[in-house]
Amino acid sequence: MSKNKVLYEGKAKQLFLTEKDDELIQFFKDDATAFNKKKHEIIDSKGVLNNLISENIFNYLGKNGIPNHFIKRLNEREQLIKKVEIIPIEVVVRNKAAGTFTKRFGIEEGKDLPETLIEFNLKDDEHDDPLVSDEHIKVFKWANQNEIDEIKEKAIVVNRLLSELFNKIDIILVDFKIEFGRFNSGKKVEIILADEISPDSCRLWDIKSNEKLDKDRFRRNLGGLIEAYKEVATRLGIDLSNF
Ligand code: TMP
Ligand code: ASP
Repeated sequence: MSKNKVLYEGKAKQLFLTEKDDELIQFFKDDATAFNKKKHEIIDSKGVLNNLISENIFNYLGKNGIPNHFIKRLNEREQLIKKVEIIPIEVVVRNKAAGTFTKRFGIEEGKDLPETLIEFNLKDDEHDDPLVSDEHIKVFKWANQNEIDEIKEKAIVVNRLLSELFNKIDIILVDFKIEFGRFNSGKKVEIILADEISPDSCRLWDIKSNEKLDKDRFRRNLGGLIEAYKEVATRLGIDLSNF
């Protein structure tokens, strides 16, 4: 699979065109950013671990009926994915209060939410990814009502599947962010899961110690990010012998 020009450069990933119109290469960088890039560091090998973890999780979700963009991992930093038109909304699913939610509502970190909560943020770095409602999404035509409904339904199923997966390995899924895209198969346009799912995009706490095994280690200067990501990978059964 030959790599052509960069189609998109994000904070932690790059997307390259391939010789096939409907396939891209997703490259995982070592850049760690937080607070919309106000904090930025290169953390050696983070991209390699996220590539492996995201592969494992997308395969698991695919096997459990969640269509997604993942085709195959190509090497330590790259995976082949289906090209989609990204819906410019970050879909955040919360089981417990943490992060920006605790600040917005003054709710203590770790408090269980009465029900799983779905929030939407517009993907717009210039304006700090503002929180948006279904109404904003419809009025600005980022997605239509059917798509919003489908995204919410899928997000709830993804939350159930991921919570089960992590529970089995003694990890609490506190919250996470996912993205969806429109995939045109030629016959129909389908909404599928895209982007990545990794400790960069989830909050993961050890069930016994509540130790943070995710990007909060970087956001909060706790250190030990690579060790934490390796711990998640190992518990997921990922072979790190070549790492
Ligand atoms: P937040 O508490 O900072 O709003 O984040 C909620 C969840 O979404 C958390 O697991 C981190 C993830 N997230 C991203 O993956 N990318 C982002 O740009 C943001 C703001 C959050
Ligand atoms: N990914 C976002 C950033 O780079 C926010 C975050 O994850 O905290 O700033």
